[in-house]
Parts: sequence; structure tokens; C-alpha cells
Amino acid sequence: MRSHRIALIPGDGIGPNVVEAAFKVGEAVAAKEGFTLEPTYFPWSCEFYAETGAMMPEDGIETLRGFDAILLGAVGWPASVPDSVSLHGLLLPIRKAFVQYANVRPHRLLPGVEGPLKAESFDILCIRENTEGEYSGAGGRVHQGGRDEVAVETAIFTRTGVERILRYGFEQARLRSGRLASVTKSNAQKHSMVFWDEITRELAEEYSDVEVTSYHIDAMAARMVMAPQSLDVVVASNLFGDILTDLGAAIQGGLGFAASANIDPTRSGPSMFEPVHGSAPDIADKGIANPLATIWSLAMMLDHLGEGEASARVMRAMEAATRGGIGVRPGSDTTGAIADAVLNAIERD
Ligand code: IPM
Ligand code: MN
Repeated sequence: MRSHRIALIPGDGIGPNVVEAAFKVGEAVAAKEGFTLEPTYFPWSCEFYAETGAMMPEDGIETLRGFDAILLGAVGWPASVPDSVSLHGLLLPIRKAFVQYANVRPHRLLPGVEGPLKAESFDILCIRENTEGEYSGAGGRVHQGGRDEVAVETAIFTRTGVERILRYGFEQARLRSGRLASVTKSNAQKHSMVFWDEITRELAEEYSDVEVTSYHIDAMAARMVMAPQSLDVVVASNLFGDILTDLGAAIQGGLGFAASANIDPTRSGPSMFEPVHGSAPDIADKGIANPLATIWSLAMMLDHLGEGEASARVMRAMEAATRGGIGVRPGSDTTGAIADAVLNAIERD
């Protein structure tokens, strides 16, 4: 029987709740489709940090390398570990080490979910650069604590990095409507963002079947609220993509629906799948976290693993659940009730 080895990193806060719910859905759909998901749990988290002084063991990356995919819940418990430490100790190193350069985030309304806009339906696929740019980590502080203290944080844009993410965007546009929006701020940032726009134009010649439009980030933010139906594939740098995808989450009804995939398109290592919402300490262990973002991320994982039919089944089951009014409003149903509704829909399908 086909089998996929999955590294599960539930992490902090609501992470374990939503990963448990999503993985049950994964196992149910695998049984239907005749394959297995072989899970290995890793307790890497802020609690692990309190015990060991690190977010993951020194050989953590090497351990993960042997897996077919990683499903991650959430990282961060600011009351005990500063976010800048926990994120740079677990989530961000995984994205960089496995060159998961494409952070793919779908934004659309599931049936029955209203969202804050009185918009026509929209279906946006945000592609966020995930390894460099404004989150390169390059920089430092001098004269720390003194009156003359200086902090420098340098954005790094390499031709390799920009070209590969834009190429990924063009390829996705080709698979969808043939329209691509490339987002920069080249009117103000005259080096890196002009560079990005130039590479966009170069590739546009190669992908002459794709209609590409360049937008500035501020205008794009407004467009996503005022006319989201006019957009299809949107590609942006790390920081801009980070911000736009929280906006995308908001217009799709909230972070409880926002899924993401950290993809290495070359498949030289595992890709990682995680909800966008984070650890949500305020509702941790209350049993009310919406697992749909993680279940949707799991559907993206199955698709990446070549289990397209299983992925489609999960999406259909999620849609059946929300169409029936389950999980459509924040706090309206418990984590368990939403997961059960999805599991029931899988049984009935
Ligand atoms: C996200 C998160 C992370 C990011 C943080 C927690 C570092 O906001 O996945 O969008 O910015 O990448
Ligand atoms: Mn974010």
C-alpha cells in the first residue's frame, strides 16, 4: 500500500488541537483512497525550549529531511519565550533549510462563510517569497543599550530568489486564469523593488500567454478590499506577502480559514503545511479553535504528495460542513464538532 511519512509538529497553543483534528481527517481520507499516512510526532515547541534551551534539537533539520512532508500547528508562546527566539529557532529555519521558497496561501470564501466584504465571490492565490527579502535576518545592532544605539535590518533580494518565486507565480497563473499580479513598492524602494519589477518584465516575455500586471503594495491592499474578484494569482516578497495574506485571511472570514503551504517546488526536501493563524494563546486548550485552516493545509499537503483525489475529497468535505453552517463564524462550534462534521462528510461522500 502507498504510504507517506509525515512529520507532525503540533507546536504551541492551539497548534496541538488543530493538528490532532486535521490528522484524523487525513487518516480517514487515506483509508478511503487506499494509502496510509505514517505519522511521527515531534514535541518541538516553547515547552521543549523550557526543558532543553532550544526549540528543536541540533540535528532537527537532518531528522526532518527524511520525511515526505511536515504538518505544523503553530509556534510561539510569548509569555515564556520571545517570538523572535521561538520563530527563529523552529519555523523560519525549516522554511530556509528546506528552501521552501514558495509560501502558497489560498483566499476564498467557503460556502456559508460570509466574510466582512459585501463582495462578489473571489478566488485569490497568494504566492509569498519565503526564504529571503525583508525576512533574511541580515543585520545587527551596535552600541546596544546606549544613546547612540543603531539597528540595521537589511532586505536581501537575489536574482535566483526573485526569479524562482516569480516563475512559480507565472506557472500557477498558467494553471488558473492566466492572470498574474506582481506586487512591489518600486516607486519608493528604488533598488530591490525596481529589480523585482525588471525580472517580472523579463519573465513576462517568456510567459507571453500570461497577462501580468504590476501593482504597488499599498494599492494592492486597497484592491483586495475593494475589488478582490479582480484578482487571481498574486505574487509578492516575504514581508509584503505576509501582510497581504493576513488581509486575505480577513476577507475570507478570518484566520480560522487561512491555509498555507511552504513549498520547495524542486522537491529536494520535504515541504511544510501549516495554518496561518499562529498559536492563539488566548484560546489555547479551550477547544474552540477552528481546525479548518489546518484541514485545508492538509488538503494542500495531500495534493503535493500526489494524492489529488484525497485532497479533493477533503475540500469537498470541508465545503459540505460549512455549507451546513458548521464552523462558519468564530467560536460558533467547537474544534471537535467541526472536525466531526468534516469526518462525517468524508464518510458520506
Ligand atoms: C506567518 C507568520 C510568520 C511569518 C511569523 C510568525 C514569523 O506571521 O506565517 O505568516 O511572518 O512568516
Ligand atoms: Mn503572517
